Amino acid sequence: MACFFRRHIASKLSQILQQPEDVFISALSAVPVSNKQQTADFRLSIGTLFKDGIVPSNGDVQSQAEALLNELKQDRVVEEVSTGRGVINFRVHRKLLVQKMLGPCGKDDDTFGLNSELFNRLEKGRTLVEFGSPNIAKRFHAGHLRSTIIGNFIANLKQSIGNDVIRVNYLGDWGMQFGMLGAGFDRYGSQEKLEENPLQHMFDVYVQVNREAEMNEDLRHAARDFFRRLEHHEGKAMALWQHFREISVKEYQQVYNRLGVHYDIYSGESFHRVQTQEVVQELQHLGLLKITEKGTAVVDLSPSGDMSSYSTVLRSDGTSLYITRDIAAAMDRKEKYTFHEMIYVTDKSQENHFHQLFQVLLAMGHSWAQRCRHVPFGLVQGMKTRHGEVIFLEDVLDEARARMLHNMSLSKTTKEMDNPEDTADKVAISALIVQDFKGPLEADYRFDWDRMLQAKGDTGVRLQYTHARLCSLVHLQGNGQELEFDHSVLVEPRTISILQHLLHYDEVLYRSAQDLQPKHLVNFLIKLCHLVASALRDLPVKGSPPNVAQARLQLFSRTCSVLANGMRILGITPVDKM
Ligand code: ARG
Repeated sequence: MACFFRRHIASKLSQILQQPEDVFISALSAVPVSNKQQTADFRLSIGTLFKDGIVPSNGDVQSQAEALLNELKQDRVVEEVSTGRGVINFRVHRKLLVQKMLGPCGKDDDTFGLNSELFNRLEKGRTLVEFGSPNIAKRFHAGHLRSTIIGNFIANLKQSIGNDVIRVNYLGDWGMQFGMLGAGFDRYGSQEKLEENPLQHMFDVYVQVNREAEMNEDLRHAARDFFRRLEHHEGKAMALWQHFREISVKEYQQVYNRLGVHYDIYSGESFHRVQTQEVVQELQHLGLLKITEKGTAVVDLSPSGDMSSYSTVLRSDGTSLYITRDIAAAMDRKEKYTFHEMIYVTDKSQENHFHQLFQVLLAMGHSWAQRCRHVPFGLVQGMKTRHGEVIFLEDVLDEARARMLHNMSLSKTTKEMDNPEDTADKVAISALIVQDFKGPLEADYRFDWDRMLQAKGDTGVRLQYTHARLCSLVHLQGNGQELEFDHSVLVEPRTISILQHLLHYDEVLYRSAQDLQPKHLVNFLIKLCHLVASALRDLPVKGSPPNVAQARLQLFSRTCSVLANGMRILGITPVDKM
């Protein structure tokens, strides 16, 4: 595997440069596969060695690269060493490349690339990822879908490289919207409709009550009154609220199942409404609370204490705010789950909110807030279905599935299958995910049904299609589990390109784990699909001599499992047939 070569080269360098092996592990990178046949497999950047203070610079990169080159000898692993601009290139023995990349990789294929030394440099421990977090009764928006799939990716990634992950959904389950909903339900609610289609009915009531409240002072009053009753935990109001919450969670769970997402904890703003009082007392006790002329309570976050930046934690009527509940929630989670790091995933409009949250926690003396991180993402424009604006997440999934089913029915290559709906669902979801993950998360993008569902483009459909083709090849032609095979026949450039590309896998995961961006993995997998397409064309299994066929199957089988593992980390369920 890649780590074998990396370790070997690092140890060579360590002997020459008299530095621990470790420092070279991440200074080495696999060389990107290009159309031109690559000869080198790994590359060491001299500039990086300078930057990291591993080697003192004499100002002339090239001469230092040449000097190092003179000391590096070929051996049983490295067959050629050369210099490029500011780099040293290593080419490993082809036979060994085939052997290591296609050999067993631990208990099973699912661990390929996951035992890399690269990950030793990352902090391990418990990671709490908070994502999804829709608001009950309010309309769903594309941001909630983005948060769900991005958070799920981050959780999967962290888990696969050895962190203990806790997945939290922080529902918007408290606030004035429940005053409106409660008052509205008293007037136009129907138990029957609520049981039948809870999200739709709550949404309808919410829309109607908001519309009427604009002209109706009594209704506004009733809504405030209902929320006041909630804040005082009055039995009847609480029971209705509880019911709204429970049926919503049940509905959400169905959609999350469909998306392949699960949560360890369904928390929400309501959980922390009592603790907010304690937070405020503690802030006061620490001397961090200021009362403004308007009667609100704030924490001054400006460096020089001139209130040029501050965070409001209590309204003038003494009620808590979004940030107050977040402060309480963070402290509560730290105590309950003793996480090492905590990650929040929301759209970028909340960047300032989280910045302030972490500042307040730090001011309170919670140094662990340094290991809290907000992952912001951009807006999605134009997410519409045939029926118009999207109101529920399910609408998007249904439309995606219907469109995919239609495309499948038109395609000549579509296979007979037991449950086409289920396949269409999985493929459509992968199309949504890949469209979303291709660029940097912070960028906005335009939602485009046709483009994301193209079978030939760089899409989730393409990933699934390639996976299904590899699966059927491996299943049809052999079991692919044969570990004894003739390595010597795998010499074609197409084979070497795939193996060289697989050398990147651990690097790609390492980079993603640092910046939490899925684009590295998406682009890696898409490129893999391109390489596979050429290999399937030029390296036939059927009709080749048995030893060649067997060796090629081994190549395709390993490729198939890396593709599947990568897809799973992205949150995609690979299909075997389509
Ligand atoms: N429910 C919020 C919204 O829809 C997102 C919650 C984000 N998480 C947090 N801890 N504030 O905007």
